[in-house]
Amino acid sequence: MSAVVISGTGLYQPPHTITNAELVQAFNAYVDLQNAQNAAQIEAGEREPLAHSSVEFIEKASGIKQRYVMDKSGVLDPHRMYPRFTPRADDELSLMAEIAVDACHKAMAAAGKKPEDIDAVICGASNMQRAYPAVAVEIQQALGINGYAFDMNVACSTATFAMEQAVNALRAGSAKCVLVVNPEITSAHQEWRDRDCHFIFGDVATASVVELAETATSADQWEVLGTKLATQFSNNIRNNFGFMNRCEDTDPNARDKTFRQEGRKVFKEVVPIAAAHIESHLAALSVEPTAVRRYWLHQANQSMNQLVVKRLIGGEAGADVAPLILDEYANTSSAGVVIAFHKHHADMAKGDVGVLCSFGAGYSVGSVVIRKR
Ligand code: COA
Repeated sequence: MSAVVISGTGLYQPPHTITNAELVQAFNAYVDLQNAQNAAQIEAGEREPLAHSSVEFIEKASGIKQRYVMDKSGVLDPHRMYPRFTPRADDELSLMAEIAVDACHKAMAAAGKKPEDIDAVICGASNMQRAYPAVAVEIQQALGINGYAFDMNVACSTATFAMEQAVNALRAGSAKCVLVVNPEITSAHQEWRDRDCHFIFGDVATASVVELAETATSADQWEVLGTKLATQFSNNIRNNFGFMNRCEDTDPNARDKTFRQEGRKVFKEVVPIAAAHIESHLAALSVEPTAVRRYWLHQANQSMNQLVVKRLIGGEAGADVAPLILDEYANTSSAGVVIAFHKHHADMAKGDVGVLCSFGAGYSVGSVVIRKR
């Protein structure tokens, strides 16, 4: 089999930061407004008052300290509680494509690739800006790339699932250099008005160049030793927004049309799935979990990641073994593993093995085992 490498990554970081203190202040103002508006019903015992959020809870429960967003003012407006974006004409680059293109330029520069060197673009994200044409094709056009492009969505696991599609295309000969891009504008499907999850997400875009080793010229190459994907249906992370909403005559602003989850259940069920998945993947490659230099895990919850690694290596996972970026970025859905890799691999030596592993809605879990060349 031809060797395939990841030869460059790129990161787009949105212009605005929201700290937990700012987020909680806006959320609590929203709660106070709602409770004042519903005071009579609350007084009559017909409705429960909404409860305040707290910075302490957020940091303890998740490890998240801040997040980056494309628009801050709309999210922090207690009368609105979601971002405010200006509609763009059909002949303008869409917002998702814009941030994707920025990340792609950086990944291409890191890998030393020009548009003519690339012949496939896979755009993977947990939501697409529109039904069609595919955002990937818009990105392809904006970058001046020939070949083909398509969108895909496996929620938080999309990056690793897309990397496997890239590896397969390279090995099958249908592409020679693939750009995998993950533009995540999670702020638009996040439920900023729900105390259980209002702190979870952040916006970002990542891109990765995946190519045949024989064409790679980058000084920083990571050979893909294997990829492994698995899914198992669960309703514990769900969003019912979709093209049939109109026909169902349902409220487009109803709670089920944005992100919702049973966080506790997700935590309990996904940790063992992810740990067993990585263990069996490594066993198939004859790599001991303790021989892995670094785990770049999905960035949703600090304790979840610590537990996954503890199950694998039997001890505490320090930041050196399983780096965290969620304190700064929050959960950026599919992009989290790529940010972790992007920011935390420069210190690794030739021959070091690392595992990218994402997990999330579906349930889905994907792992990519790589070795520094
Ligand atoms: N501020 C203050 N208190 C809050 C709160 C908030 N924002 N949100 C919930 N609480 C309270 C709850 O009401 C509950 O109170 P109770 O014990 O009196 O009933 C308590 O805190 C614990 O709530 P719980 O929902 O069980 O919290 P948790 O410890 O499970 O943490 C998550 C919540 C979401 C951080 C955590 O479950 C998680 O990260 N799960 C995995 C999620 C994941 O990976 N999702 C993938 C998304 S793609």
